Amino acid sequence: MSFVININGEIFPAEEARLSVLDRGFLYGDSVYEVIRTYKGRPFALERHLERLTQSAERLAFILPPMEQLRNELQRTIERGSNEESYCRLVVTRGCGPIDLDPATAAAPNLIIYVKALELPGESLYEKGVTVIIPGVRRMAPRAAHPAIKSGNYLNSVLAVGAARRQGAFDALMIDSSGNVTEGTASNLFIYSGGTLKTPPLEAGLLAGVTRRLILELAHQNGLDTVEVVISAEDVYGAQEVMLSSTLREVLPVISVDGRTIGSGLCGPVAKKLRRIVRDYALSTLPD
Ligand code: PDD
Repeated sequence: MSFVININGEIFPAEEARLSVLDRGFLYGDSVYEVIRTYKGRPFALERHLERLTQSAERLAFILPPMEQLRNELQRTIERGSNEESYCRLVVTRGCGPIDLDPATAAAPNLIIYVKALELPGESLYEKGVTVIIPGVRRMAPRAAHPAIKSGNYLNSVLAVGAARRQGAFDALMIDSSGNVTEGTASNLFIYSGGTLKTPPLEAGLLAGVTRRLILELAHQNGLDTVEVVISAEDVYGAQEVMLSSTLREVLPVISVDGRTIGSGLCGPVAKKLRRIVRDYALSTLPD
């Protein structure tokens, strides 16, 4: 198992990787990133991640290296890591500069690719479910740095996870300026109630999760009605099932929110089914 980091095309053991402290990703969070995982050694949904990375960079008005270079460098780094399954974090910063907010002062973008052995949530979390709180940390307003940008600034999520852990919870849900719940700290939110699978719409101001989109695409053909709708904290408390979706978690059941038990307090059938659907799809779309 190895942890390697590619910096602008050169691959290092993680502890030897170095980048200037004048990089704007470090100074201002002026960077975009994607977390991609492999299934059977191959990066899953790579094109969707690259599409989102492109959209994030466009919103921040900076130019990414060519897509072909990103694909090739990612592949090379995965191979060098030679892990059975890989966690890949692909970061592009606006580059180094003279400590000046003006984005025009940045030199060329820096490309950093972290690859390490994939560590997934333990199976017991899927069997028992997890607890979350709604700590009241607001997600960035859409007219600030839009939450659809997967940028290097995750301070609201850092605050929310910190609050959750201090209260003994596993994670937190984020709310928007109206108090509606939008997503998790690094995952999207689904609830199941009244026979329908519900998730907040992108217009609510949230990250357009690759797993979220996949669930919306696959749920219907698996007999589940879906709707994108505004979700309040009360809706979450009263749901039969609550779940978080992400690249790393697939579909993780939530059994308690702010100390209130969700449904029967056990991992529900919809969460189980959706996880299976996502996994089966991820494994079946890959060549053997
Ligand atoms: N996080 N919402 C936020 C705020 C996220 O950071 C993520 C992903 C998601 C889920 O997106 P996807 O299904 O494409 O992974 C939703 C990754 C896993 C991370 O930062 O580690």
